[in-house]
Amino acid sequence: MTPLAADQQQRLLAAARAMLDKAYAPFSHFQVGAAVLTVRGAIYAGCNVENSSYGLTICAERSAIFAAVAGEGPGMKIRAVAVCALHQGEEQAASPCGACRQVIFEFGSQALVLFQGPSGPQQVSIADLLPGGFRL
Ligand code: THU
Repeated sequence: MTPLAADQQQRLLAAARAMLDKAYAPFSHFQVGAAVLTVRGAIYAGCNVENSSYGLTICAERSAIFAAVAGEGPGMKIRAVAVCALHQGEEQAASPCGACRQVIFEFGSQALVLFQGPSGPQQVSIADLLPGGFRL
């Protein structure tokens, strides 16, 4: 898939960043924000929501993707996802976890993923992040 235009990248990253304050992360103190750009051109955002029963935690990426499905219905397709993370006030490198990669793949096998890598911003296709993603 073609790379995102610079202004689309900025809008998507800003939407992800705007979610950092909303994160519910009292256990890890690792706040994550994510934003999905759909093929239709809308942006949906989400944050991580932790739980006292740790395994019930939902990642920011899935929270944003589920909001996008709630907004556009089962035909929602992902063009791109941006992720950003903050720990103790400092921006952190954070690429989507394996579970979120599979959920991104479900709704956009060619989706682009924007995140802060260990040595700067990265824009990678989900096919590169998740080779051989599962399909039923
Ligand atoms: N987290 C995300 O929101 N997205 C990821 O891709 C990886 C991890 C959250 C879950 C948990 O609240 C915190 O980061 C620490 O694992």
